[in-house]
Amino acid sequence: MRYRATERINHWIVAICFMLVALSGLGFLFPAFNWLMNVFGTPQMARILHPFISVAMFVAFTLMFFRPWHTIW
Ligand code: HEM
Repeated sequence: MRYRATERINHWIVAICFMLVALSGLGFLFPAFNWLMNVFGTPQMARILHPFISVAMFVAFTLMFFRPWHTIW
């Protein structure tokens, strides 16, 4: 078995958070993609959620990054 259930769940948290911030972020940046912000209900809601989802992604990614630390050092 290569990965524990917690590692797989953590990986999917990172992946789902990234997809959500990429959707909202591209929505903010490009007029052609403005409609993507409506995936979150309203553009205002997308702007509120983007930084919060980003913090969740940062925490989950940091856990994922340091998990194999003992195999390196
Ligand atoms: C394709 C990916 C992304 C794009 C295009 C994007 C784009 C943007 C844009 C345009 C803003 C400014 C919104 C505004 O001024 O109203 C913003 C804000 C922000 N982004 Fe992203 N973003 C992306 C992914 C991420 C990721 C991966 C993270 C961190 C994990 C992140 C963290 C943040 C945070 C914390 C803010 C708020 C900054 C503030 O309030 O001053 N973004 N993003």
